[in-house]
Amino acid sequence: MKDDERRLIKDAILDEDGFVKATFSGQRRGYELPWRRVAVRPVLIKHVRHLQVSYLDDKQDITKNYHGSQVDEKTDELLALPFSQINVLTTEREIQVQISRKGVARVHQRRVVGDIPEPSLSHDREKPRLISADAPDPFLMALEIQTPDGRIRANKRRKYLQINEFLRLVADTAALEEIAPPVHIVDCGCGSADLTFAVYHYLNHIVERPSTVVGIDVKADLMTKKNALAQELGWHKLRFQVSRIIDFEPEVIPDMVMALHACDTATDEALAQAVRWGARLIFSAPCCHHHLQAQMADQPMPQVFQPVLRHGILKERLGDVLTDSFRAQILRIVGYSTDVMEFIAPEHTDKNLMIRAVKQAPPGDPQMIAEYRSLVDFWGVTPYLATLLKKQLTAVGVEG
Ligand SMILES: C[S@@+](CC[C@H](N)C(=O)[O-])C[C@H]1O[C@@H](n2cnc3c(N)ncnc32)[C@H](O)[C@@H]1O
Repeated sequence: MKDDERRLIKDAILDEDGFVKATFSGQRRGYELPWRRVAVRPVLIKHVRHLQVSYLDDKQDITKNYHGSQVDEKTDELLALPFSQINVLTTEREIQVQISRKGVARVHQRRVVGDIPEPSLSHDREKPRLISADAPDPFLMALEIQTPDGRIRANKRRKYLQINEFLRLVADTAALEEIAPPVHIVDCGCGSADLTFAVYHYLNHIVERPSTVVGIDVKADLMTKKNALAQELGWHKLRFQVSRIIDFEPEVIPDMVMALHACDTATDEALAQAVRWGARLIFSAPCCHHHLQAQMADQPMPQVFQPVLRHGILKERLGDVLTDSFRAQILRIVGYSTDVMEFIAPEHTDKNLMIRAVKQAPPGDPQMIAEYRSLVDFWGVTPYLATLLKKQLTAVGVEG
């Protein structure tokens, strides 16, 4: 087997989130194997992820659990044995390797289709889901995430994980506890509204924290459908309204604004509105970033970055990183304590960045302003959020 083939198998086994199981079997002609078959799977022992290796021959079955650096060593040991067949299953792919007598490997890979397998004790399984799918749940069925017999639909598994990861983040945000109920929430660019329904359900029904939620989107047909579903469920404090984010005028000042995967500058609109309304909490998962990219394409960029800017893909990623860095920094300047984090594993969605902001301090932190000015001057760009919040930034001495 070649190094890259060995690496492929090893990486799949060491993939903590995706690895489901592996089997090593068959004996290459002319070689002796100590075991007829070896099965490998992840297990959780006292909250620590281990690799469980079961060595089988005709007389015995020995199971051992390894963790830390042992996992790497034992995987290498297995790969060095003269097995003729290795199968590895991850949440994404199935890898089948057949090795000839001379050690030449034929590798077949295919993407997993249909129900995505779940690691028996994966990271996700370790964390209890906030909206459990252990039994049929009317909420999950209403959103067509779960079938009437209690299965999560294969094409909705990612959405289900995303809902739970988002709710976990909300649940872990201590400032939410400090808001006197009812908590008023606006979801900007709510789209098909799975997360809008989920946050309403979680707060009102699971943690029993009375909350109102308004979802807004420019798609009128979707808003009509979602209002009908809210009515059908009898969720009277959940409603949907057709509006551009920037035009929306809430009846009650929202405590929390969420904008999950709102396209391009819609994210800036949501952040700007949240700041103008004085929302205590902001959760924003940006989507595509075109506005800054366009400015970067139109004007000369710092020469020192040529090796990065030469490559379209790197330039694009740099534009994304800068856009979100500017957004986070502007939020800090206007008084929000801001984190930027990954809210769901990248294999579930590549749009997995979350900006979480909690209003905490008076606006105008001099250090944040100085850092912001340096970055803006260096790149010679104007972030769209700065244009939208010109008044607020000017008030603390940041000229647009
Ligand atoms: C990718 S979807 C995300 C939907 C949902 N938030 C989610 O995470 O599943 C983005 C939604 O934002 C809406 N949208 C985009 N720009 C908007 C704007 N300026 N005002 C209101 N809605 C907007 C689109 O119509 C679309 O439904």
